[in-house]
Amino acid sequence: MSALSKSLYGIGVLLFLITFSLTCYYAYQIFHFGNTAAKATNEAPRYHFVLVPQELDNDYWRLVENGAKAAAKHFNVVLEYTGPKQANTEEHLKTLEMATASRVDGILTQGLQEDQFTPLINQIVEKGIPVITVDTDAATSKRFAYVGTDNYYSGFIAGQALIQDTGGKANVAIVTGHFYASHQQLRVQGFKDAIQQEKGIHIIAIEESNITRVRAAEAANKILKEHPEVTAFYGTSALDGIGIAQVVEHYQKQDQIYIIGFDTIEDTLHYMKKGTIDATVMQEPYQMGYRSVQMMIDLIEGRNVPDTVHTETRVIRSQDLPLDSKRIIRMDPS
Ligand code: BGC
Repeated sequence: MSALSKSLYGIGVLLFLITFSLTCYYAYQIFHFGNTAAKATNEAPRYHFVLVPQELDNDYWRLVENGAKAAAKHFNVVLEYTGPKQANTEEHLKTLEMATASRVDGILTQGLQEDQFTPLINQIVEKGIPVITVDTDAATSKRFAYVGTDNYYSGFIAGQALIQDTGGKANVAIVTGHFYASHQQLRVQGFKDAIQQEKGIHIIAIEESNITRVRAAEAANKILKEHPEVTAFYGTSALDGIGIAQVVEHYQKQDQIYIIGFDTIEDTLHYMKKGTIDATVMQEPYQMGYRSVQMMIDLIEGRNVPDTVHTETRVIRSQDLPLDSKRIIRMDPS
């Protein structure tokens, strides 16, 4: 073979190799892409659920959302978190109606007021969409299950803690999220029942905060102006204790006034570490979110679901801190 034909032969072999490799590469790409598409189809979300809280922009509800989203990811479900930006019953009910109209597979929400929520929950269930109540129950409705705190009990243990921590002597003011909301009523009732026998404990005033810290602060300010004899505050929703603490610090009365609040969101822990908030009733919002999604899947797939799942609730004192926040806000699915 001449030198010329040798090099032509070499070029030919090289071209063949390049063409062959390119063919293999594109064939792989096409085959691989086909597979990915098939995989994506196989793994299409199993269900579409909606979680409607009373207030989207609320640190407490963000924890419920985190739990629900973690479960949704784990079980391959689409979870939409939607509702009023700030507490508003009308908007809350409208969001539930819209979720129903879009034929989602399951709805997770609060049963804030039996008279307004029960008829709508019943209509939704009659249309074939299962409802699970979270955080606040509408026990007489046709909801399939409730997952959340035993709200009466949580109020009761708040009362017991206040008796213990004040030595049974206190003039108490209550700041509550909403007068109309059933879980807030239960937290107040449980508290009243716990202190009922105590001769040295008197409830002096009760005000509403519309679950905002600004309104809670306004309420605490009004109470302290009108009733300087107040020596203790009880806040029944997540931002109440924080609003009360701001006012009590403003008047530099943190050493004279006892505060028990609700929940373990960051700002509450901050005021507890400083000793302004003395105690708080811990709830398990992350667990509520996680379990509610799990239970909805079980329900749809015909497995047994308990009527009521009470998540843990207990009192944490400021002297129990610092605790690892992971132990306070449980982020595991169990
Ligand atoms: C309650 C929620 C409420 C939140 C308001 C929590 O203690 O469980 O129902 O929406 O406080 O900040």
